[in-house]
Amino acid sequence: MSKALDHIKILDFTHVQSGPTCTQLLAWMGADVIKVERPGVGDATRKQLVDVEGADSLYFTMLNHNKRSLTLNSKTPEGKEVLERLVKTCDVLVENFAPGALDRMGFSWERIQELNPGMIMASVKGFGPGPYEDCKVYENVAQCAGGSASTTGFRDGLPLVTGAQIGDSGTGLHLAFGICAALIHREKTGRGQRVLAPMQDGVLNLCRVKLRDQQRLKAGPLKEYSQHGEGVPFGEATPRAGNDSGGGQPGRILKCKGWETDPDAYTYFITQAAVWQKICDVIGKPDWKEHPDYATPPARLPHLNEIFGAIEEWTMTQTKYEVMEICNPLDIPVGPILSMKELAEEPSLRATGTIVEVDHPERGPYLSVGCPVKLSDNEVVVERSPLLGEHSEEILGEVLGYSAEEIASLRESGAV
Ligand code: COA
Repeated sequence: MSKALDHIKILDFTHVQSGPTCTQLLAWMGADVIKVERPGVGDATRKQLVDVEGADSLYFTMLNHNKRSLTLNSKTPEGKEVLERLVKTCDVLVENFAPGALDRMGFSWERIQELNPGMIMASVKGFGPGPYEDCKVYENVAQCAGGSASTTGFRDGLPLVTGAQIGDSGTGLHLAFGICAALIHREKTGRGQRVLAPMQDGVLNLCRVKLRDQQRLKAGPLKEYSQHGEGVPFGEATPRAGNDSGGGQPGRILKCKGWETDPDAYTYFITQAAVWQKICDVIGKPDWKEHPDYATPPARLPHLNEIFGAIEEWTMTQTKYEVMEICNPLDIPVGPILSMKELAEEPSLRATGTIVEVDHPERGPYLSVGCPVKLSDNEVVVERSPLLGEHSEEILGEVLGYSAEEIASLRESGAV
């Protein structure tokens, strides 16, 4: 079965998380991803958070599936020549170096266009053009600078970063989207182009509803926020809203049976207007169906604490799975708080290939997250990440046409 991108070669100059997330997705869509790494060193994550001595870390292996690894010192004359050949041969260069690093290496956008006018050059940077464009950025900095941290957490607590890597992996996703659009555009025009995904912009895009609320503040208090029901006035900026639902249907995280000892014995419960009557029956408050304080969504807004308190009295008598079993047939939207342990063991995620077990020569079998997007003509078989320089010979020979003698001389020079 052919795949969407199986005619595309990617020069993967990425490291850490954001860039590798992007190129892993492209590899899963069939692209030939050639990961270029410094000889003897490689992507820094290979040796970060090591759990098996001597083996590539899970940090690296889980972000670099289905790629080939070429070691190359792109700062030596011989290495630069190899890199030039790669630029001429590949369709897309993806990089997430610190600002200016590629220019310092001698591969500015102008130079890349000279070498290959059809090249798409895609970059993750911390910030777009502006006062912070020269800054190095990691995940949590992006979450803070992109509006996520100021709107996450509880009103009376610190700003919080989230476990979802919206700065790194989120920006990698945005970049992959930009690359696919640029590839389609190139089919029409023959021209390559630059694709830039700043992490701040990616996080802000994912926090779009919070900028929505910032503007709604001008029209009065945000009535669906708990603080409105608690009589706490709003300030000038979108506040942190705890676990309030971000949409028009109020929701909260509520305790379930066992919460005293199990940190994940909770459910998310949404009081969707369409099923209010059924909620009243389930929680044993049938009189709330017609009561003027509870019957309509606007009437309920000032009473959300009381309403969720009553719902929680009921959820605490059930396990989070029982809440699902009772509410789902009634179309009441609820969801258990699932731990990583529960997700790792979930059979349906194994069956769809979203959780996969992969074998690795240095570390043995480990779990990974497979491709989260399913295309009917693009079955994804998750392959282990490459060892450092594992494919150097085959890439230099088969892709770039170097002879065995030339490869030996490149090795001698220390360029590969
Ligand atoms: N051969 C020779 N040199 C290489 C090389 C290779 N194959 N690969 C990388 N290098 C060099 C770079 O050219 C750079 O050299 P320079 O500083 O002399 O120009 C050097 O290695 C270090 O690169 P840099 O990107 O600065 O790495 P860092 O570890 O200092 O910083 C980040 C890491 C993530 C902070 C930084 O890369 C960054 O801000 N990236 C953009 C935003 C981003 O993606 N952040 C999230 C990462 S998940």
